[in-house]
Amino acid sequence: MRVLITGGAGFIGSNFIRRLFAARGSALVVNLDALTYAGSRATLADLGEQPNHISVEGRIGDREFVGELMDKYQPAAIVNFAAETHVDRSILSPASFVQTNVVETCALLDVALEYWRSLDPLRQQAFRFLHISTDEVYGSLEGGGFFTEQSPYAPNSPYAASKAAADHFARAYHKTYGLPVIRVHPSNNYGPYQHPEKLIPLMILRALEGVPLPVYGDGQNVRDWLYVEDCCDAILAALEKGQPGRAYNVGARNERSNLEIVRTVCRTLDDMLPPAANPRLKGRRPGTYDDLITFVKDRPGHDRRYAIDPTVIETELGWRAKEPFDTGICKTVRWYLSNGQWCEQVRGEEYREWVRANYGERVGDGA
Ligand code: NAD
Ligand code: DAU
Repeated sequence: MRVLITGGAGFIGSNFIRRLFAARGSALVVNLDALTYAGSRATLADLGEQPNHISVEGRIGDREFVGELMDKYQPAAIVNFAAETHVDRSILSPASFVQTNVVETCALLDVALEYWRSLDPLRQQAFRFLHISTDEVYGSLEGGGFFTEQSPYAPNSPYAASKAAADHFARAYHKTYGLPVIRVHPSNNYGPYQHPEKLIPLMILRALEGVPLPVYGDGQNVRDWLYVEDCCDAILAALEKGQPGRAYNVGARNERSNLEIVRTVCRTLDDMLPPAANPRLKGRRPGTYDDLITFVKDRPGHDRRYAIDPTVIETELGWRAKEPFDTGICKTVRWYLSNGQWCEQVRGEEYREWVRANYGERVGDGA
């Protein structure tokens, strides 16, 4: 299996590469990543310089460069993880989301189409363009129910709107030109290597430092949490068994309010590194990490609830989430406790500036 993976130095992409090597040892992975603030060589360090993992720095929108990679490595599939992914950043500054998630994704589709057209019929039939979308394109479930593959698109944030636009192009390239595109819509992932700007790692690292844990609004917004290795297995199932032209929702039937998530993180930390034994605590030394929870100004347009119905991928592709939340969250907290160096590497000056921009007004000096 020869695969071009984009965004493989990010959270889900890097986990997918590890999963792919574990499941299909002979795979050849060409990993194209722009190494934005969200992507890091440190995230791939454990993969080393294996001959079957080729890591290249570049943008998915660089048509010439991507075309050369395709000609050189002749992949049987593209798995497109590359994107700007943080909703809060999209609210403060949407332009880069339009650029990468829409304009550059279309450029990648163009290059893929040209390459696919050059293949012989057997290789054309086997080729796949797997596009990683999100459940956020469906909007917010205010009145109950679940997202299915038939749910109408109703993106609310600039991030979700950019992902929705990309999906429409990906779908259109299948309908119009026959490119074998498959779309996957995962729910909120958690696990090792997630950037500390996202809820769970943000709360773990801030709790360890004893600074306020900023819960937006009333903390009752609900997300449907999926352990990243389960998500990667779903992506592999879609790649190997999915039908071109189809979309697959991926979720673990694991709805939790944000407040419940933050309290669970705090409880887990209380067990693994009680505040009294934590040498890194700055400023406040809480009795329990829970004491740091601070309700702050809400995210504008904050979607109230996401919940995935994963019946299609379960019944048609035989995939099912395996990791219970209780063990997944323990593994995740333990991973962040053991990987302080990685956390510091991805939290550079750019990250500190981001924290001031997003949290300064919300939590004052504690940002
Ligand atoms: P991430 O932010 O951790 O990583 C994104 C990666 O893409 C980074 O390595 C970055 O350097 C790279 N990148 C950004 N722009 C690029 C460009 N123009 N060219 C090449 N590389 C570029 O993201 P993630 O959380 O791993 O998400 C991966 C994909 O899954 C995204 O498409 C995202 O929309 C989708 N998704 C994520 C989640 C989640 O909970 N994390 C859930 C559903 C869907
Ligand atoms: O649902 C899939 C999506 O999940 C992906 O497509 C996105 O790429 C990914 O970032 C994620 O989006 P969310 O906005 O749901 O994730 P985030 O971790 O940013 O926030 C999760 C919830 O926690 C959300 O309701 C907002 C809330 N939150 C987040 C942060 C960063 C807080 O209350 N405080 C915070 O500081």
